[in-house]
Amino acid sequence: MPSHRGEFSSKAGFILAASGSAVGLGNIWGFPTNAAENGGGAFVLMYFVLAFCLAYPALMAELIIGRHTKANMVHALQIISPDRTSKSIGKLTGYYGILVASLILSFYSIVAGWMLAYLVDPLATLGGFNGLSDWLTSNSMARNLLFTGLFLVLTCSVIAAGVEHGIEKWSCRLMPALLVMFAGLILYVLIQPGAIAGLKVYLIPDFSQLNDPKLIVSALGQAFFSLSLGVGTMLIYGSYLRPEENLPAVGAIVTLVDSSIAFLAGLLVLPALFVAQQYGLTIYTESGNLIAGPDLIFQTLPALFAGMGMVGTLVALVFFALMSIAALTSSISMLEVPVSYTIENHATHRRAATWLTGAAIFVVSSAIIVNFEALFGLVVTLTTEYSQPLLGLLLCVFATWVWHRDMILEEIRSGHPEVEYSLFWKIWPSYAKYCCPLLILLVLAQSLTS
Ligand code: TRP
Repeated sequence: MPSHRGEFSSKAGFILAASGSAVGLGNIWGFPTNAAENGGGAFVLMYFVLAFCLAYPALMAELIIGRHTKANMVHALQIISPDRTSKSIGKLTGYYGILVASLILSFYSIVAGWMLAYLVDPLATLGGFNGLSDWLTSNSMARNLLFTGLFLVLTCSVIAAGVEHGIEKWSCRLMPALLVMFAGLILYVLIQPGAIAGLKVYLIPDFSQLNDPKLIVSALGQAFFSLSLGVGTMLIYGSYLRPEENLPAVGAIVTLVDSSIAFLAGLLVLPALFVAQQYGLTIYTESGNLIAGPDLIFQTLPALFAGMGMVGTLVALVFFALMSIAALTSSISMLEVPVSYTIENHATHRRAATWLTGAAIFVVSSAIIVNFEALFGLVVTLTTEYSQPLLGLLLCVFATWVWHRDMILEEIRSGHPEVEYSLFWKIWPSYAKYCCPLLILLVLAQSLTS
């Protein structure tokens, strides 16, 4: 192992980077639309329960393994395995995680590329370049390839600079900017006519939907995706954490920031949809559901901004800047998974490893763009709905069944002996051992049968 592994220079740096990974398109787009589709407040409630009762314990498993082993997922799972069989399974699980992280990045960067194109669009409009504006907002293969490539170049530039000078520095710059824009937009949208109707759809629970198995599956999938779990992202961030930090506390802060931003995004997106209705736009599909997919972000909201005139152009600029930043702080955390593996297992320099991996991911993204109808949905479903919960389950099993219990307790306590008096210390080890795997299994079985 190279001795010069990166490290986050401060607790705040780690929290901003891990929250930057967690807060992404999944929060700002996925969560509000999922909530609108699945019974509003009932979904929000279920999401919070699952985020803290299932996703948080799974996040802790990743952080603890990462900080103890100071290695990428492939190597980490071998380090904590006591015998040859479990070492082999650990190695395979690690490879599976790297594969899933890379596939998630390959579809995520396509969507992020759309955000970049829509970010450039208001500038083209302001400059009077109407032809360019039309090209930016119409769905062509050339545009998708160009902006996906551009987004991957941004992602690679940050990762090539390393943990402290890339991930940490940019998360500390971009996350505060994101929060300011986010707060400004929410306040602006909430004072527009029609906003309150959106708030009602979002917040008033339709408890009859709590029995719907689809609601629980969607909420769990959303929680796992939102906290970037299963694929080794949080494991590798944990491995860059200094030994003296209090792990359960930093994990809890990241979970809290992530779910709060998701919750707040609902205060932005759903009211905006109903404001759009006031502007005469259709916000329900033919089957009577609220518009939720790409049409919401790339047609309804842009049409709303266009209807607002000059102010609308500015709002569009801020909105798509927000989306692009959220996507970038997440995509860097995905790319770090294959890159850290390549650096540590093949003794490659960070720069070379980053640009090579980035190029490989661009090839996969291009294949998805060219066969969009056949591949996009398939890759999203296979990675996020099935692989992530399954990997989350395997990581919990490794942390609590395979790894020696005394060692994991030692790691939780390390740097923070007071942890021994906390609730976390009493509950987590058995909870993550029995309850988490069982609950994840139940939900997985449920999604396979439904
Ligand atoms: N959590 C991010 C979001 O909500 C996406 C993300 C970043 C992710 N890293 C990940 C998802 C790793 C799965 C795995 O948009």
